[in-house]
Amino acid sequence: MPFGSVLTRQKADLPLDLFEAMDDLKRKKNAVILAHYYQDPDIQDVADVLGDSLALARAAQKTRADVIVFCGVHFMAETAKILNPERTVLLPDLSAGCSLADSCPPAAFEAFCRAHPDHFVVSYINCSAEVKALSDVICTSSNAEAIIRQIPADRPVIFAPDRNLGRYLVRKTGRKMLLWEGSCIVHEAFSLQKIRDLKAAHPAAKLLAHPECEEPVLMMADFIGSTTGILKYVQGHSDRSFIIATETNIIHQMKKACPDKEFIPAPSAADCNCNLCPHMAVNTMEKLYLCLRDGAPEIRMDESLRLRALGPLERMLDMSRAIAPVAVAG
Ligand code: 13P
Ligand code: SF4
Repeated sequence: MPFGSVLTRQKADLPLDLFEAMDDLKRKKNAVILAHYYQDPDIQDVADVLGDSLALARAAQKTRADVIVFCGVHFMAETAKILNPERTVLLPDLSAGCSLADSCPPAAFEAFCRAHPDHFVVSYINCSAEVKALSDVICTSSNAEAIIRQIPADRPVIFAPDRNLGRYLVRKTGRKMLLWEGSCIVHEAFSLQKIRDLKAAHPAAKLLAHPECEEPVLMMADFIGSTTGILKYVQGHSDRSFIIATETNIIHQMKKACPDKEFIPAPSAADCNCNLCPHMAVNTMEKLYLCLRDGAPEIRMDESLRLRALGPLERMLDMSRAIAPVAVAG
């Protein structure tokens, strides 16, 4: 460990071995750590359950722990709280937001839904509890197609908040939908030209993209899927080299599962680390330890809002029972 970080830990009164200290705390407090693939690799390694948004929602629904520490962004921890009113749900940093969720303010969305009262409202899980409460059903990138295919054909549909995922689903299902114009800063940062150049330089590499990417990137992709879908693809195919068009931290799991394969992060337009989600990055190992130790910061929610958001979320879990659960131990 670098000397500087030893000093920082001493100052903040942190144990030197955070992994060991967290194991102790988890046992004492009957706590479970759920983490998304976009978290820092150390957080992924200390987690009890790692997964995509669907797997984590299912894990939150199933857990018997007294305390859920959610390593992800606010809407994910909020989802765990909606499913677990009696359990303590902690988020290492309450400011861990999401540009996509923020692109759908509840008041504006309510007005939009009111203007189309006959529409069936499908909201991607990357939205606030208030937006969930305004929806008929929630979906994730793993189950969105299956859910849309179950909506009666004569029912007009609103899809929110991600316009790229929405457009992809329109193309996939042939279903016309009214799309909310939201997007994710990470998945819209990729440069089409740089990806083209990279493909030319690595002709054998397969381009794997998350459906939150813009349409031109998706059109070029060899495979489009949720984080779990992309992870399963690299494990299940004999190709040796992949360009990954989603948040870069998922490559940690890919390298663990397939150490002999090559994973190249898709380049973003600016010369920056734009494919690392800045919202996910506010959770750190130090904050995770402090959150476990202190039982804070905690997600709290008004009970009437929770109940209104619960119905659409439970409907999603019911409608996607056929999708095999995929979550891995950290
Ligand atoms: P999934 O892990 O469900 O594919 O979602 C990706 C994402 O953007 C989470 O913020
Ligand atoms: Fe939100 Fe995009 Fe970050 Fe996911 S990657 S949490 S959608 S900003």
